[in-house]
Amino acid sequence: MTGGAGFIGSNFTRWVIDHTDASVVVLDKLTYAGNRDSLVGLPRDRVELVVGDVADASLVGDLVASVDAVVHFAAESHNDNSLADPQPFLMTNIVGTYTLLQAVREHDVRYHHISTDEVYGDLELDDPARFTEHTPYNPSSPYSSTKASSDLLVRAWVRSFGVQATLSNCSNNYGPYQHVEKFIPRQITNVLTGRRPKLYGAGQNVRDWIHVDDHNAAVWTILQKGAIGETYLIGADGEKSNREVVEEILRLLGQPEDAYDLVTDRPGHDLRYAIDSSKLRTELGWEPQYSSFHDGLAATIAWYEANEAWWKPAKDATENKYAATGQ
Ligand code: NAD
Ligand code: DAU
Repeated sequence: MTGGAGFIGSNFTRWVIDHTDASVVVLDKLTYAGNRDSLVGLPRDRVELVVGDVADASLVGDLVASVDAVVHFAAESHNDNSLADPQPFLMTNIVGTYTLLQAVREHDVRYHHISTDEVYGDLELDDPARFTEHTPYNPSSPYSSTKASSDLLVRAWVRSFGVQATLSNCSNNYGPYQHVEKFIPRQITNVLTGRRPKLYGAGQNVRDWIHVDDHNAAVWTILQKGAIGETYLIGADGEKSNREVVEEILRLLGQPEDAYDLVTDRPGHDLRYAIDSSKLRTELGWEPQYSSFHDGLAATIAWYEANEAWWKPAKDATENKYAATGQ
């Protein structure tokens, strides 16, 4: 798998070790978002970390030749960073995916492509519609347009070259080991370091939250049972406005629920994401296990309280970067 030192990939590695007999080779460049410490405690005889770039064709070819399946999580993943500097997003998300596709094509290896609901653009707040596998692509940001590009490459390699691939597009994940640049960990660690949570714009934007373990269980299900060439949307019916999430974090941390700041909005900020995951549920039998966002959030807060040594080194630099854009 790729990107296994990042948020979802490290949780996926842990999930695979806990729930299956498989061994995992992690290819990860250890960018600012990758952290060796996210893999600490995993058995060395079943998890190997190879530090390298998914766009390195020679390295990728050697690794792909030695595995049964590739799950591709590695990406530049943060919208705000893509607005400041799109270039690494094109290199990793597009050229990196192309490089992997050529390798799985050459070695005839099963491939699963991890993507995002952001490829579909956004929905109005009062629109009853949700994204389905048939929603037209309409990405808004440099990040989401590079993810959309990578999805289209996968579909073309399936059709033109017979690559054995599946795709999944998931909504916003939360849970342990998420970088402090992201919304939920940023607000938790803001409170834990004496800062106030920061809401972009009026805080009305809606995200469809899913626990990272539910995402990863769905990925494993698709890898085992998914039909080649098919796309599956992953979501857990978790729509909440950003303001609701911040208020819940503040309550859980014993703070007044209005103790946040409204800050400069993100340019092009997508209004609302919402996933209809009926296909995954009816065709492959997956169901989310985390039924309560409140409980999942409380456990996530407890993890950040207990693991300051994991996130503290990145906190000040992340906040300095945000301060430069008034966020
Ligand atoms: P992340 O930023 O936490 O982790 C990305 C990982 O990829 C890091 O370990 C980084 O070192 C590695 N990486 C980056 N460039 C690389 C390169 N060129 N070569 C090798 N490794 C490289 O990201 P995440 O939030 O865990 O997201 C993982 C995947 O899931 C991404 O493809 C993202 O688009 C997708 N996704 C994320 C979410 C979410 O809510 N976070 C939701 C849906 C889909
Ligand atoms: O929908 C899936 C996507 O979710 C993934 O593809 C991306 O990799 C992942 O980063 C995430 O994208 P978002 O842009 O939705 O996530 P982010 O955590 O950056 O922001 C979530 C929402 O919170 C969004 O509406 C912006 C807002 N926000 C974010 C930050 C960091 C704030 O209001 N304040 C903040 O400080």
